[in-house]
Amino acid sequence: MASDARAAEDGGAPPPRPVADGFLRFLIPAPKPRPAAPTTAPARLVPPHRLVAPPPAAPALLRPEERLHIVPPTRPDWLPPPPPRQPPAPPLRSPSPWVRPRPFPPAFGEPRTRNAGRFAGQVNGARGRSPASVAHSSGGGRSGSQKPKAAAAHKEKKAWVAVEKKGEDAGDDDRAAVSEGYSCGDETGTEAEDQLEPEGEQDTGGHRRGLDREDDAKNSLDMAANQECSGGGGERPSEQLVCQSNQATHSRGRMGRSQVECRPDIDTFTPGLLALYESLKPSEEHKSKQKQLVDSLAKSVSKEWPNAQLHLYGSCANSFGTSHSDVDVCLEMEIGTASTVEVLLRLADVLRADNFDNVEAITSARVPIVKMSDSGSGFSCDICINNLFAVANTKLLKDYAQIDQRLLQLAFLVKHWAKLRGVNETYRGTLSSYAYVLMCINFLQLREPKILPCLQAMEQTYTMNVDGTECAYFDEVHQLQYFGAENKESIAELLWAFFHFWAFHHDYRRDVISVRTGSTISKQEKNWTTRVGNDRHLMCIEDPFETGHDLGRVVDRQTIRILREEFERAAAVLQYNDDPCVALFEPYDYEN
Ligand code: GTP
Ligand code: MG
Repeated sequence: MASDARAAEDGGAPPPRPVADGFLRFLIPAPKPRPAAPTTAPARLVPPHRLVAPPPAAPALLRPEERLHIVPPTRPDWLPPPPPRQPPAPPLRSPSPWVRPRPFPPAFGEPRTRNAGRFAGQVNGARGRSPASVAHSSGGGRSGSQKPKAAAAHKEKKAWVAVEKKGEDAGDDDRAAVSEGYSCGDETGTEAEDQLEPEGEQDTGGHRRGLDREDDAKNSLDMAANQECSGGGGERPSEQLVCQSNQATHSRGRMGRSQVECRPDIDTFTPGLLALYESLKPSEEHKSKQKQLVDSLAKSVSKEWPNAQLHLYGSCANSFGTSHSDVDVCLEMEIGTASTVEVLLRLADVLRADNFDNVEAITSARVPIVKMSDSGSGFSCDICINNLFAVANTKLLKDYAQIDQRLLQLAFLVKHWAKLRGVNETYRGTLSSYAYVLMCINFLQLREPKILPCLQAMEQTYTMNVDGTECAYFDEVHQLQYFGAENKESIAELLWAFFHFWAFHHDYRRDVISVRTGSTISKQEKNWTTRVGNDRHLMCIEDPFETGHDLGRVVDRQTIRILREEFERAAAVLQYNDDPCVALFEPYDYEN
């Protein structure tokens, strides 16, 4: 809607009109950014954002929890309570799970075997539970028939070792990380130690691309070995048994798996995945409760700050909200000489006085917020002040979502998977929902044929100036409805390809994913090759507008391993499991 209206409100010249109207407009290269007006300071915010004084620099401190990424994940509130614990089964060393496979998936609450290695730590890069180990029901996978034989062939090559908990032997863990190619930073090291290894010295993601590819038989062998290593069930984190298998074999297996093609019957899972997607969409009742919460919040705020404007941002406004999403609110207000933190503390008092529940000011985060919940609806709500980058990127995501419905489908499924698998917790070193959505957008920008365009590389029909940064892109997305029509990939194919990409193809050592450019760019180019403060830059996701902001900054040596393991597990489930729609979303077992 109306960039004209926005310009008229601004009292300035109308926004630049498209050079050509019509569907092909997006092919026209974006004009060069206009130079800032020399005399007067540029309007900082384009209506409807009429602010205001620049917010003070964000405090450098991180939330205390952000440093506590080694704490095991907690069970989300919305998961049903687990049934009483079974006594732990003794570690299985034989017979091979290949000979007597466990039923898959186990009943909820049964000691589970498919958790990633996680916080149990690993030795020499062998992980507690290889994702490939889920592949025992081949379900059409190409290498299914070869596995048992390969397992037998590989049996002699391994030794069983007990592994200590994460953090008890960081040295081993680091060595393991390096030997598996996660060596582009060091969470405990100095900045100098965080330098990238010279090309080719490590077995890294980037290096993998250049090496010989393994055939499927080799993959099977590796998967079978991993299945053996996993011990079959009942592991306890503190003495989990892992296979100290030949490191080179493990790495070669990953290389080999990068060449695997999608199973031929993958499309049979599309209806199930779409049904799940539909079930995740928030109901009308959910939306109206959300609206009630926002209305009562607006009422409270306006008593104290009558001129404040309230913007919804995040998933409740960018179309990626599920029925589990929180409500993110940005208050746009003149704060004069007060600091953001002071305003937030005052806001917390106001909300407490108005009987909102569990009100808490979190002032040391990169973006300070007040958190609260509404016991009636069960919603939790984060409120920030003048964080207009978030308002801008919310609109960008919403616009991308309107171009091709496969983005929403993919992102809902990926977010749901990430929450259930415990890899959507930034304060513990995994990724935010926002980061996952950017990963999905970038992934669809890179498909051949492309499913999504790069809106920021097109003619600028929308612009919003935030703290001197021009957030501009092509927002007339109704013209792009058929952009991805040439690509016929189903959601099942795309979901598998997404996980496969992040498990085997993304070059963690060298690449930054960039929705802004619609491609990947190099860490070198961004100067993200070393750790700076707490930004480790091990897995790099560029924010589309705050381009100096790496959404993967929280990922450390341990959690990059967890993430990759979960990507591998997901790809393997979709590739080989008979019922991937169940197995993929099996909750991470927080008890074991
Ligand atoms: P849900 O998990 O459904 O609540 O997804 P969400 O998109 O609301 O994610 P989240 O609550 O993590 O983030 C809210 C919004 O904050 C994002 O959508 C972005 O607009 C904005 N944001 C900007 N930078 C960051 C960042 O570094 N981390 C996070 N989490 N959010 C950011
Ligand atoms: Mg949110």
